[in-house]
Amino acid sequence: MSGTKQILALNRFDGGDTSGLSAGLRERLEKRASTFGAASVLFYEQPIEMVRGNGVHLIDVAGTRYLDMYNNVPSVGHCHPHVVSAIAAQAARLNIHTRYLSRPVEDYAARLLGHFPAGLSNLTMTCTGSEANDLALRIATAVTGKNGFIVTRTAYHGNTAAVTAISPSSSSASPTAPHVRLVDAPSRASIAAGGDVAGLFAQSVQAAIADLEASGIGFAALIVDSIFSSDGIFADPAGFLLPTMNIVHEAGGLFIADEVQPGFGRTGTMWGFSRHDITPDIVTLGKPMGNGFPMGGVVTRPEFLSCFCRETGYFNTFGGNPVAAAAGDAVLDVLEDENLIANARTTGALLREGLESLRAEFPRIGGVRGAGLFLGLDFCNEAGAPDQAMASAVINALRQKLILVGAAGQYGHTLKIRPPLCFTPAHAGQFLESLRQVLRAA
Ligand SMILES: Cc1ncc(COP(=O)(O)O)c(C=O)c1O
Repeated sequence: MSGTKQILALNRFDGGDTSGLSAGLRERLEKRASTFGAASVLFYEQPIEMVRGNGVHLIDVAGTRYLDMYNNVPSVGHCHPHVVSAIAAQAARLNIHTRYLSRPVEDYAARLLGHFPAGLSNLTMTCTGSEANDLALRIATAVTGKNGFIVTRTAYHGNTAAVTAISPSSSSASPTAPHVRLVDAPSRASIAAGGDVAGLFAQSVQAAIADLEASGIGFAALIVDSIFSSDGIFADPAGFLLPTMNIVHEAGGLFIADEVQPGFGRTGTMWGFSRHDITPDIVTLGKPMGNGFPMGGVVTRPEFLSCFCRETGYFNTFGGNPVAAAAGDAVLDVLEDENLIANARTTGALLREGLESLRAEFPRIGGVRGAGLFLGLDFCNEAGAPDQAMASAVINALRQKLILVGAAGQYGHTLKIRPPLCFTPAHAGQFLESLRQVLRAA
């Protein structure tokens, strides 16, 4: 079994032996390394230069068209014309910071909040998911007067200092910060212990709360990505988060749902938390919110935001500027006009069925999970242990067949299947046939 994988190590170009690459590509890589240095991260054994996007496709510099099943940022489709023209029209009219009255911004906020349960009626806009989670942590500390946070073992919530501390998958080395407690993602522990996903997750959160309280740090909040994407994608059974939310509330803490990955329809419902029939205290948003235009947000109860603002208040120069609002508004239009949430359900179900058939055919597929158009497929070795090398080989072989997919999970052995929501049954057929060919050849 391979060891725990840092998130940025998954499907990473390692810069090692470049002798198999063309002279032109080697030159580009050297130029990039000389400017971006050690922080440069690229995908694939042979990095790709992309120049255009359209719907579910990405086109590289040689004109090769790839089926993109990797990318949940352009969630309504790459370069969607309605979103592009909304951004262009607003940029041509006015783009300023956020301290003037602005009708596009206010109208967008009201429209977006209409998609949330009653009580979650305040929106603060940011530029990234990391900023949104950073603010969520600050709100939770202000509301509870405590500083302890609970996250899942392979969580990723972003890149600010505070958020990196609650993102164990960011670092392969540093120990968990003293104010952070880790719990296993719902299914891993539950499968090992015989199946009570909801009960076992709630119990482990309860133990972590007790530990934080005993340490004197105190419990502020549990923050979970409601599809558990970096943990390996755990969606079922729907409803399993409810007992945990009750335990969090009984302990006086807040439940933060990170919707940066599952939000805006991907799992077949508008929000990942809706599948669990819960109302979180704070919801954080990002990636698909602007279909590629950088925007994020925090949705919470007015009393929580007021409590936070009594001490500091919040201002973000670019968060919620009018161009961002135009992008966000256009995304909501497309989700409705093209029925994309229903498509995530129906085409997602079809794709999952196809993956289950492959599982029956290929014993190295250890499991298929997910919801809507966010699916995970585990690879295991002959002994049934996670097989990261196989996942990596399949990802690179699929790339040769012009299909892009990613990896996830503690051991990096889970194929992360997450196409734009305009993905059709024909695209699903193309993917399943290519995956079958790759597995036959493995
Ligand atoms: C679940 C989750 N939360 C937050 C973030 C951070 O978002 P951003 O990269 O926009 O700061 C990510 C990014 O991958 C994420 O997957």
